[in-house]
Amino acid sequence: MEDHKRLVRQGYNAIANDYLAARTAESADIKLLDDFMAQLPAGALVLDAGCGAGVPISRILQNKSRVVGVDFAETQLGLARRLVPDASFVCQDLTALGFAPNCFDAICSYYAIIHVPRQEHEALFWRFRHILKPGGLAFLCLGANDLAMDMNDDYFGVPMHWSHYDAKTNLALIEKCGLHLVWSRLIPDSHWPHSSHLFVLAQKPS
Ligand SMILES: C[S@@+](CC[C@H](N)C(=O)[O-])C[C@H]1O[C@@H](n2cnc3c(N)ncnc32)[C@H](O)[C@@H]1O
Repeated sequence: MEDHKRLVRQGYNAIANDYLAARTAESADIKLLDDFMAQLPAGALVLDAGCGAGVPISRILQNKSRVVGVDFAETQLGLARRLVPDASFVCQDLTALGFAPNCFDAICSYYAIIHVPRQEHEALFWRFRHILKPGGLAFLCLGANDLAMDMNDDYFGVPMHWSHYDAKTNLALIEKCGLHLVWSRLIPDSHWPHSSHLFVLAQKPS
């Protein structure tokens, strides 16, 4: 597990600028933020989990909320602090988040959980539930198909891992972890349209 995470962290440190340059802001995945943000209370405290360079996600969230971005790749965080100066960014592993219980109004996570070994997803969802306020929202990008471990030797020039469950298993896991499903949608990847991601809006009970 630690080798898997080290490879992901080193990879995202190495490709920070190239990934940012390729990141889309007008695609269907980004448009889903409108619905999520419309449900946030004014001045909501939102965790951007696996925030990368903070653009476009933290920057868009910051228009309406207070944003704390978390990532374990320091180079990504350096870009985020420069590009989204009004948000706060901290270096943490998603699987060892050190926040107080019931502190966030919402959690948003784009394309990060799919890099966490899937055996750790259940514990991660429980941790998200723990740090959300009652009634808080989790807006998560998850895998759509069953992929115990995928390895690409040339992802923006570096090796990279992905690991996730299929959509049905993910939805069951969300409910098992005490988060009630509000909606879910399959959205084609903006760079690789033959593959899709599952976007889920779920809520911690009040
Ligand atoms: C594909 S990028 C997405 C960045 C950003 N969310 C976006 O949509 O532009 C995935 C990010 O998740 C981070 N990440 C992956 N696994 C992580 C972990 N276990 N803890 C913290 N960050 C992680 C990577 O460092 C990387 O910055």
